[in-house]
Parts: sequence; C-alpha cells; structure tokens
Amino acid sequence: MPSPPFRNRCPHRLDGSAADVHGEAGALRALGPAARVELPGGVPAWSVTDPGLVRRLLVHPWISKDAHQHWPAFVNGDLPADWPLRIWVDIRTVQTAHGPDHSRLRHPLVPAFSTRRVRALAPRIEETAATLLDDLAREAALAPDGVVDLRTWFATQLPWRTVTTLVGLPEAMHDAFQGVNDMVFTTDLSPEQASDTEAEAARLLADLIVLKSDQPGDDIATALVDAHREGLLDERELADNIWMVLGAGYGTTANLIDHAVVNLLTHPDQLDLAVSGRVGWDRVVEETLRHQAPVANFMMRFPTEDVYDEPTGLTFERGEALVVNYAAVGRDPAVHGSRAEVFDVTRPTVREHLAFSHGPTYCLGAELARLEGRIALSALFSRFPSLELAVGTDRLAPLPSLIFNGHREIPVRLEGNKHS
Ligand code: HEM
Repeated sequence: MPSPPFRNRCPHRLDGSAADVHGEAGALRALGPAARVELPGGVPAWSVTDPGLVRRLLVHPWISKDAHQHWPAFVNGDLPADWPLRIWVDIRTVQTAHGPDHSRLRHPLVPAFSTRRVRALAPRIEETAATLLDDLAREAALAPDGVVDLRTWFATQLPWRTVTTLVGLPEAMHDAFQGVNDMVFTTDLSPEQASDTEAEAARLLADLIVLKSDQPGDDIATALVDAHREGLLDERELADNIWMVLGAGYGTTANLIDHAVVNLLTHPDQLDLAVSGRVGWDRVVEETLRHQAPVANFMMRFPTEDVYDEPTGLTFERGEALVVNYAAVGRDPAVHGSRAEVFDVTRPTVREHLAFSHGPTYCLGAELARLEGRIALSALFSRFPSLELAVGTDRLAPLPSLIFNGHREIPVRLEGNKHS
C-alpha cells in the first residue's frame, strides 16, 4: 500500500552541531510520526518521532541495525568517503547486529548486567562519588573565581570509572582510552581527526586484548576474550564490542547526570522535593531520561523488506535508513500532555519514556545507569547543598553531537559547602 504524501516534500536537514536538539525534535514532530530528513553529508533518512511508531519498529522482525547486510547505500559505497557518522554503522557490535547475530553478541555481555552484579557495584560507586566530590572541592578551591566544571570533574568521571571497572580496563590505560573515546563518537570530526582517532583506538584495544588474554579477570573484556576463544565472535567483533561497551556506558550516563544537575539547579522547587525526600531520586532520574534523552538520536535501522505501518499509513521501504529520535519521543504531548516540555518530577508519566529503547535492543546498562544517577545526585546535593550554576543556561553550550545530548561543560560554584 502506498504511503500518504509526505508532509515535508523537501527533507529537513538535521543540524550536525546539534545546537537546538529539542527545537529540532519539535519541528520534526510537527511533520508527522516520521519525517524525511537529510543527515550530515547529504545522506537521506527517516527521523521517527512518534512513541507508538517507535515501539512498533523497535520490535519489528524486518527492522535491522546491520548496515553491512541491509543498507544498500553503505554496501554499494554510495556514502561520502569521509561521512562523519560512518563509525556508527561500520562498527561490528551488538548495537549494529540483527537477528541471530544480535543474540550471539548480546549473550556474553548479559551476565555482567544481572541485578545481583549491578547491586554489588553500589558501594564502589558511592566511594567513587565521594572521592570525585573531594576532587571537585579541591579544584574549586584552586580556581581564583571558585568556578569548577562539574561535567569534567564529576558527571563524566563517575560513569567512566564505573564502566572501566566493569570492562576491566587497567588504571594505566584509563586516560588514553578516555581521550580517544571523547573523540571517536563526536559527529563533527574532520576526516584526518577521524582516521587518527580510529588508528589510536585500534592500537589501544589490541594492547588490552593481549593483556586480558594473559591476565584474565572477572570483567567484560575477559568475557569477550573467552567468547572469542570459543569461536563465538571474530577478532573484529571482539575489539569493537569492548570499545562499544566503554562508549555506551560512559557518555550516556554522563549526560543523564549532567542534565539532572542542570535541571535541578534551574528548578529549585524540584530540587527541594528531592532533597527533602518528598520525591525519590529515582523519579528525578526517570524525569531527566524523559525530558532530556541522553541518546537524542540513534543511528540507525534499515528495513530488510518494505514495512507498512497500518496505524500511521506509512511505508518504510527496504534499505531506507531510519533514525529513532528518542529526544522527540520523550516529549510527546499525546503521552505527557501539554506541559511535556516542562521538567516536573511529580508528573505521573515520568516512567513512560523510551530513553533506554524497547524490545530486544533494550539497553543492557539501564539498571546500572539508574543506580549511578541516583548515587551521583544524592551524594552531590548532600555534600554541596548550595551548589549553583556559575553562568546562565544560555551560556551552557550543547555537545556538538546528533547522538549524545549533553553540555560541553557545566561551570558551577560550590558555595555553602558544609565541609569547607
Ligand atoms: C543514561 C544512560 C544510558 C542511556 C540513555 C542508554 C541508552 C541506550 C539506548 C537508547 C540503547 C538502544 C539503542 C537503539 O537500539 O536504538 C542502548 C543500548 C545499549 N546500551 Fe545503553 N544507555 C545508557 C547506559 C548504558 C550503560 C551504563 C551501559 C553499559 C555499561 C550500556 C550498554 C548498552 C548496551 C550493551 C546496549 C546494546 C543492547 C542491545 O542492542 O542488545 N548503556 N542504550
């Protein structure tokens, strides 16, 4: 059955610098449940913004994430050689696999994310949070104006230290991996920067794999090395999956903490509800995930056959590219009402978001990210009850990424520090 005419005949060009994630999401939503878009590099795709349609597509057996098999533009070499989003579809991981390959690659990761294993990490995450808050206080004391970047010293460091523990990255490798990780998933690198970064990543991963083969541990890198030895994954899948877990567990959760802090500091009534215990930190975490999806857009999915969606009347043709716009989904007025744009930890629908996806690709790290979020916020606001932003929100620049929704930095003052 043919699709109804597109409301946007000219594709909406997505802004690679992501200067206004929610402005763009709102404009796309106004174009219908899914809209034709142009990705950086002139690559055509659909942006899917409607929560119901997203749910249906995420569980549809004909919707693949494997560009190597199901995206003709990629397979036939039609994409620009220096396409800035190439790594997102080229990488061979559980996040870019389909069907039996997806199950095969998910399987060795699952044990590390069991409820028991995640809960057991809590004391260590609490300890890390306390250490990082000491670091933050020290940096603030050293700064002539008392201003310190909360994103660098806290929001990114807590998830980084947690995911490196989970993966089993030795401390001596932390800085090198983090530097490369910060670069590799940025969507505005020059071609030279992109290829240098990939070469450096490959070198670091090769070193880590040799180390884990010689000195196994109770960690994800070892589980993947074992799976490779048993023939469950090939060499490239081994390296790429280690890399993917480090990336998946780091920037995402940093963005959650980042946005939760900024939202609370700019909504003192909401902060008061949480600090006084009238509303749990879990609700702050859920409302932040809804209001500011840390993964704004996920690249990408490809129909393996033409998929007709009856409720919307849309047809997604075999081989087209689909981007799930999680930022738009979280603020859908049909689900969250006319105040969907407002950060409100008391809203009844705080848990009705898809920020961790849905169905077979549901985020393996969701419970861990929630735990980190709760610990981070509770530790931060009890240690620094008078924390405040040192700049207006109009001066908080967004990350230049279509995928990761966070700020470049969050300058704060810690005044009122009970311990200083
Ligand atoms: C607030 C933090 C996080 C958010 C918002 C988030 C979001 C997501 C989303 C949206 C997906 C699915 C993408 C798609 O298919 O459309 C996903 C998948 C995944 N995430 Fe997360 N994530 C977070 C934290 C983590 C953490 C901490 C880890 C691990 C340490 C992790 C590991 C994974 C893995 C392994 C997958 C692939 C699941 C699969 O395809 O089977 N994530 N995440």
